[in-house]
Amino acid sequence: MAVLKTDNLCKTYGSKNGNAVYKALEQVYLEVQEGEFVGIMGPSGSGKTTLLNLLATIDKPTSGHIQINGTNPNGLNNKELALFRRRQLGFIFQDFNLLETLSLKENIILPLVLENKKPAEIEQRVQDIARTLNIAHLLDKRTYEVSGGQQQRAAIARAMIHNPALLLADELTGNLDSKAAKDVMESLKEMNEERGATILMVTHDPFAASYCKRIIFIKDGRLFNEIRRGASRQSFFQQILDALSYLGGDFDDLSTARS
Ligand SMILES: Nc1ncnc2c1ncn2[C@@H]1O[C@H](COP(=O)(O)OP(=O)(O)O)[C@@H](O)[C@H]1O
Ligand SMILES: [Mg+2]
Repeated sequence: MAVLKTDNLCKTYGSKNGNAVYKALEQVYLEVQEGEFVGIMGPSGSGKTTLLNLLATIDKPTSGHIQINGTNPNGLNNKELALFRRRQLGFIFQDFNLLETLSLKENIILPLVLENKKPAEIEQRVQDIARTLNIAHLLDKRTYEVSGGQQQRAAIARAMIHNPALLLADELTGNLDSKAAKDVMESLKEMNEERGATILMVTHDPFAASYCKRIIFIKDGRLFNEIRRGASRQSFFQQILDALSYLGGDFDDLSTARS
């Protein structure tokens, strides 16, 4: 089943009477099936963030349609949209976006608290996911008492605890050193393989991307090509580097490439 489907998605910036109209996304047909782990890569300015913002329902397309788990979010009113976002989507950001005044546990359970779940169920679910992510011993810590990698794993737990239809991640390893990035990507892989999470992730980082099963390259606002992973992550990493050099353009973060 397609969890995500876009139909001729276009986004332009600028207005007719103001600045010139700039086409940030054009004719994007994207389909992500249940259980997929998909990466989006492309040069700076190619439209990655624009695409993610549309899918995250933070921004609206100029034309075209989005369907997430059978619903067009742009057909919802504000209240319905807030509920839709909370139930159907999970978000992971580059800077973790955890609340500093709360413990890791309080951060992680937020989506369930908002849904008025029973305390016993919340407790069981948080223990379960924290164990999977190796942060069970840190649940009572504050964000500033744990490392960046641990914070990001708590953010993954928060994004996944309500089993959203689609997990969206934007440069989730951007603020991490290579050891922490590896831990975080292993965790994300586990969410995909063990919990069946459907993941769409934007990244500059070929190492992080090598954990995906499919990578879609975007150039000048259009989907350009895609590659699928075979058995080996190492050879996929090399394939990604080759595809990026073929793609051309400016990759501000390629210097952070790790193998
Ligand atoms: N709010 C905006 N107003 C005008 N132009 C924008 C806006 N956001 C992005 N753009 C332009 O759209 C293009 C795609 O941007 P973006 O989606 O941020 O690319 P990426 O994330 O791939 O670097 C860029 O040329 C950028 O300058
Ligand atoms: Mg961007």
